[in-house]
Amino acid sequence: MRGTENYFGLSYENCAFFITFAVMIDESTKNRILDTAQIVDVVSEFVQLRRRGVNYIGLCPFHNERTPSFNVNPARGIFKCFGCGKSGDAARFLMEHEQMTFPEALRWLANKYGIQIEEKEMTDEERQSQNKRESLFIINQFARDWFQHQLRDTDAGRSIGLAYFRKRGFRDDIIEKFQLGYSPDISDALAKEASAKGYKEENLVDAGVCIRSESDGHVFDRFRGRVMFPIHSLSGKVVGFSGRVLTKEAKAAKYVNTPQTEVYLKSEELYGIWLAKSAIVKNDKCFLVEGNTDVVSMHQAGVENVVASCGTSLTTGQIRKIHRFTNNITLIYDGDSAGIHASLRGIDMLLEEGMAVKVVLLPDGDDPDSFAQKHNATEFQQFIEDNEVDFIRFKTNLLLKDVGNDPFKRSNLIKDIVNSICVIPDELSRSTNISICSQLLQMDEKIIVNEVNSIRKAKREEKQRAREREQERQANISASNPGSDVPVDLPETKTAEADVTQPEEMSSLALHFNAQTQGSILYKKELLLMSEMVRHGERVIDVVDDEQGQERPLTVAECIYYDMKNDELSFSEPLMQRMTEELVQHVHEEGFEASRFFRNHADPAVSGLAIDLLTDKYELSQSFSAKSDSSSGKEEPGKSSSDELALKEVIPHLLNDYKMVFVEEEIKQVKSQLKSPELRNNPEQMQSVMENYNELLAIKRELAKQLGNRVIAS
Ligand code: CTP
Ligand code: MN
Repeated sequence: MRGTENYFGLSYENCAFFITFAVMIDESTKNRILDTAQIVDVVSEFVQLRRRGVNYIGLCPFHNERTPSFNVNPARGIFKCFGCGKSGDAARFLMEHEQMTFPEALRWLANKYGIQIEEKEMTDEERQSQNKRESLFIINQFARDWFQHQLRDTDAGRSIGLAYFRKRGFRDDIIEKFQLGYSPDISDALAKEASAKGYKEENLVDAGVCIRSESDGHVFDRFRGRVMFPIHSLSGKVVGFSGRVLTKEAKAAKYVNTPQTEVYLKSEELYGIWLAKSAIVKNDKCFLVEGNTDVVSMHQAGVENVVASCGTSLTTGQIRKIHRFTNNITLIYDGDSAGIHASLRGIDMLLEEGMAVKVVLLPDGDDPDSFAQKHNATEFQQFIEDNEVDFIRFKTNLLLKDVGNDPFKRSNLIKDIVNSICVIPDELSRSTNISICSQLLQMDEKIIVNEVNSIRKAKREEKQRAREREQERQANISASNPGSDVPVDLPETKTAEADVTQPEEMSSLALHFNAQTQGSILYKKELLLMSEMVRHGERVIDVVDDEQGQERPLTVAECIYYDMKNDELSFSEPLMQRMTEELVQHVHEEGFEASRFFRNHADPAVSGLAIDLLTDKYELSQSFSAKSDSSSGKEEPGKSSSDELALKEVIPHLLNDYKMVFVEEEIKQVKSQLKSPELRNNPEQMQSVMENYNELLAIKRELAKQLGNRVIAS
């Protein structure tokens, strides 16, 4: 039966969510959590950060890079990658990096900082909005618990599954640590149990734990009669499973794995990374092995900085995951491993990523699993220390064995090695490897140097050509929409401080300018207004009388919003108009802060723009006030009266500046209208356009007077 309703009238899907997400975190708890969270703390759990000035930098976890462009700003509580543009606060980081939802991120942070969560009932709508990925994580978690329960608490689980692990020498604490389990040899035991608990069949299939029969639509278990290895994300969420057979039957596949799902990308996962990451950082080294059982046994022996590549050949995604924690990787192979030759290519990628790669061959007949079962951590580490060799040396020796006296093979070998050396980004490391090779191959070092240089030169030229093609493409785009590459222009009153802005930090705004199709000066002025609203939207800069003659504080947000509305102006980008309206709606709420509001906004387009505006170094209001201290570069949370004074001047100035551009554009249009022949033949219409023109000129004069420093040219 594919019934989707239980007797409470709730759909199964809702019912499953009900178990986990029945309540929501209230507003004040949410704010307390977000205020307590330390961005450096949080990011450091996933990315190795180095201090640089008041900020921290590291390799961006969201795109491939060798030199760090990922910035963390503790004062503002935000991260920003100047390479790929990803940005946000601590909660956003968890959402992006760990695929958490906002509530999940809050819970994670609350847990980390020991904050008690006050919760409120969830509305139907909120419950509905929980997404697919969440249900898949819930299913995986449920399946993991169920497999563990089978292993511990059922006769078959103990006599078959647990017995198997014990026979392999796995201790109970290690079985527990890796959350190993057992899936009984029954066609639909998990499917039945999950359905009874209210999980939707569709989600069981989409999570990969079940399969729907094509012939009759029946749903049955994917893993049957296997011991189960859950595969975890960096933060320990179960993304998939690897199930191993227990018999030596040739016909069954040794491992059955979760297929590609919305939460399991086989090529990105590393088995054991969740349990290894802190040991990798501590040892500044990561061991890479082939099998799940190798990882488990090495942990048991006390070597915890180890991961396996889930049965795929190494991918850049996996390398990147490791590289964030260390620069050093050591590959451990069985002495007789057939896989070594096949994996040599993959190793070039490690070199290309700038990692220091070493290789260890275990004694014949041992794999990491069996070797770890025979040795303790000290012995293991000692063996590695005595036997690990630099990758290039290893590869050269390995290939030399096959060459013999065949000159053709020998020249291929040299080409192969030289190609590997070429991809190493570090010059010193390249030249070290060249001398090692010249010794091993008994070749003149100069010949290898020349060869390496000419290949690198060819590659550089190829890259340069690609860059030129790209630039040409870009030029064509901006030619079709002029003005898009005009640099940011600050108001005339900018001070010297504004010039110390680091170019990389300016680039985020420039990015918006270029991305924006109209890319006009007007748009830049709008961004400057938006920037002030994101930074200081809630600040009170004036007191006005309302209709009842009551005095009412006027915030920066309202000042801009009403002023523009009065003149029937709105932002040319709907996103900014929406942000302004939302801001005005919330601005008088207790404890409201515009920067916080936008920084963790649910819409990534909103938070993305806000962060870019926040990250940009120059702060307009500061450049207007000689009294405020902009040289310190620190965010000043206190609202000193001189700040308020500055804002009081800045906002009207920016508004006028913006309107000036607007009026100038209008004037341009009217001028061209006036030149048109049709208008000349129609005196009545001519008259009205002329009036309009004069009005615009008057407005322009007025604006210029207020701006005080513009020459009027009409
Ligand atoms: N693998 C797979 N499918 C297979 C065989 C292997 O996905 N049919 C993957 C698994 O992730 C496995 C890894 O490749 O862990 C290495 O394979 P192997 O060395 O054969 O497995 P081990 O985990 O070492 O298992 P055992 O020691 O029990 O033989
Ligand atoms: Mn093995």
